Amino acid sequence: MNFDHKILVTGGAGFIGSHLVRLLVNKYPNYSIVNLDELTYAGNMENLKDIENASNYTFIKGDITDADFIHELFSVQQFDGVIHLAAESHVDRSISNPMSFIMTNIVGTVNLLNAAKKAWEGKDGKRFFHVSTDEVYGTLGETGLFTEETAYDPRSPYSASKASSDHLVRAYHHTFGLPIVVSNCSNNYGPNQFPEKLLPLFIHNIKNEKPLPVYGDGKYTRDWLWVMDHATAIDVIYHKGKNGDTYNIGGHNEWKNIDIIHQLCDVMDDLLDRAKGSSRELITFVKDRPGHDRRYAIDATKLKDELGWVPSLQMEEGLLKTAKWYLENEEWLDNVTSGNYQKYYKEQYANR
Ligand code: NAD
Ligand code: TYD
Repeated sequence: MNFDHKILVTGGAGFIGSHLVRLLVNKYPNYSIVNLDELTYAGNMENLKDIENASNYTFIKGDITDADFIHELFSVQQFDGVIHLAAESHVDRSISNPMSFIMTNIVGTVNLLNAAKKAWEGKDGKRFFHVSTDEVYGTLGETGLFTEETAYDPRSPYSASKASSDHLVRAYHHTFGLPIVVSNCSNNYGPNQFPEKLLPLFIHNIKNEKPLPVYGDGKYTRDWLWVMDHATAIDVIYHKGKNGDTYNIGGHNEWKNIDIIHQLCDVMDDLLDRAKGSSRELITFVKDRPGHDRRYAIDATKLKDELGWVPSLQMEEGLLKTAKWYLENEEWLDNVTSGNYQKYYKEQYANR
């Protein structure tokens, strides 16, 4: 079958990537969507079971830190665009093991940039979309919002590695003329998120009546966005964003951790038919995360005014949908926490 357009999505078996791949495969039957993923602990093909046989979808298991493999891939496949999400994504892991973040987030990104630069030399209509985080801007005080002009001030190994990759993507645009766009998004939540991040971890712990470890005083603030809203924003920016530009993505949806945790506890009490207040009793204040950023909040005005994107879901509704999804998908949760999916899919895709 002939397709009009071929997009390489990296990290498509992960949390955000899987929602994006599903959206692209279903919305653009005339596009070929190639998902490149190494299937680390955070990625598994179960997230894409419903579309794995779609005629416009291909999965390739591979590591973006492998420069030879990436170059070969770009010379064999004629990609029109790249949407780059593959990354090490968890701040706590970046504190215990920074090197894997340097390798995947920085070296892996440069491998993709080099391959795209070579493959696209003298060709028009290409686009390298780098998906990044608001954490590159550092931390806010009680007031103010991150805009696209906010100076970078990354403070964790994770955000420093993402900031580095953002700078490199822009450098390839300015130095070599590579057509790029960058987005910086706030905290995502929803189905398929690995249960090490705050909300899925706490849902898992509440279900199993285990303690809920709240870092520090719990008054840290995050700006939460429903994961499908991130996917629709990426779709809009990929198709309509201005070459070389950056777009902030956020839900105007700020919550102090302790407030969102209280809300989650109450939702879970209802869903599990437990006495009101029983999940809140699991809250345990623990030692703070080193270098913990106090507050993130995004100004997404540019994306709204220039490209017409707005988020679709409010947190109360999104939280309920998220909690229900994890309770209804116990097998998914058990398999990712035990490593069963990783073992199964790694074996299945051992010879790429
Ligand atoms: P995730 O950890 O759930 O998924 C990452 C995916 O990348 C996994 O499928 C993993 O297997 C794959 N991967 C990791 N290393 C790889 C490698 N070397 N080669 C190929 N594939 C590899 O992450 P996520 O939360 O879906 O985040 C996706 C992207 O969005 C990241 O770049 C992240 O920085 C960014 N982002 C995330 C959030 C958030 O709240 N989760 C917010 C803003 C931006
Ligand atoms: P997290 O989901 O790790 O995302 P990020 O650090 O990228 O914002 O954490 C969200 C917030 O929740 C952050 O302020 C740290 C806090 N947190 C806890 O209090 N306890 C936990 O067990 C985790 C994982 C996070």
